[in-house]
Amino acid sequence: MTRILITGASGLLGSNLAIEWSKTDEIYGLFLNNRPELPRVVPAACDLLDAEGLRRLLGEVRPEVVVHAAAMTSVDACENDPAAAWAVNVQGTSNLMQACPPATRHLIYISTDYVFSGLRGHYTEADAPSPVNVYGRTKLDGERLIMGSPIPWTIVRTSFFGWSPGGGGRTVRRCFMEQSLASLESWNTVTAWTNRFSTPLLVNNLAQVLMEIARLGLTGLWHAGSEQRVSNWQLLRYLAKCVGGGAQGGAAEGAATAAAATASAAVDLVKGAAFQSQPGLGRAERPFDTSLCSYRLQAALGRGFGDYRQAVQRWLDLRNNGYLFAV
Ligand SMILES: NC(=O)c1ccc[n+]([C@@H]2O[C@H](COP(=O)([O-])OP(=O)(O)OC[C@H]3O[C@@H](n4cnc5c(N)ncnc54)[C@H](OP(=O)(O)O)[C@@H]3O)[C@@H](O)[C@H]2O)c1
Repeated sequence: MTRILITGASGLLGSNLAIEWSKTDEIYGLFLNNRPELPRVVPAACDLLDAEGLRRLLGEVRPEVVVHAAAMTSVDACENDPAAAWAVNVQGTSNLMQACPPATRHLIYISTDYVFSGLRGHYTEADAPSPVNVYGRTKLDGERLIMGSPIPWTIVRTSFFGWSPGGGGRTVRRCFMEQSLASLESWNTVTAWTNRFSTPLLVNNLAQVLMEIARLGLTGLWHAGSEQRVSNWQLLRYLAKCVGGGAQGGAAEGAATAAAATASAAVDLVKGAAFQSQPGLGRAERPFDTSLCSYRLQAALGRGFGDYRQAVQRWLDLRNNGYLFAV
């Protein structure tokens, strides 16, 4: 059993990763404001800006593996307060690195597809990053720090969606898929960008990928995205199709026809629009196509990561099967 510390354990990735990983290993979940109440996970409060507190905590826990998933992730908040973004995403990363005790043999840094300009897409690990906003720049600066770490390190650039942790009086921040699902299930329209592309993984699948990386001791820079580039519009249309089709699931005679009609009506709720990046007025510039090419990592792990349809289906299945965070 490996002792693992996950920062950002109250966030979307950290909490889901902690749930998956705690089935086999000893997990400590670092948080700032929102105490994670997760089965088998030991919560630990600490601010990444508190270098001394971090040193004390990591000295006590003595993690063998550290997964750094905490960050200031709101792209617009980063743009509006670059100093705060730099403090958390860069200085915080530095503080964490320096707090790792000799017991730590692997440091895994979660990075983002937003380190790229988004002008081309299909980015490989060999492509030069060129972020268009403060969030991307601070995450890239964090990467550069990690690359200088004496501890064997891994950087995973990714994008993902999943069920967000809720409850416990926290301010629940739902990811865009959860928000879209809520609208579609209330038969409200959603606007989706036809010209913004990415390769989002289901967060639970990303958790499995990260656990495999740690088990294999895979180091270096890796891209982890779904197998097929998808526009925001295609993704939400597929979600709508599942939602609409599912509404009639299991009904008696004529179910297939009724389900198809309902699915089609649900898909019509997704209104395509062309995104125009209009930075300013509190809005950061957004990249258009940040799709990642993950062939290298898939080859290293000896398996595929699935496409967006599989990710959406598994996401909905998790809820149907009573997944802890599903709403
Ligand atoms: N969401 C995406 O689609 C996406 C895409 C690509 C990469 N990423 C990267 O993936 C990682 C996880 O993202 P996420 O969406 O899961 O994050 P999230 O849900 O926004 O959660 C952020 C986490 O960081 C913690 N945190 C923030 N400031 C902190 C500080 N000063 N000290 C200690 N903890 C602090 C928060 O703690 P409290 O809640 O307790 O305050 C929370 O646990 C991040 O590194 C992000 O850059 C995310």
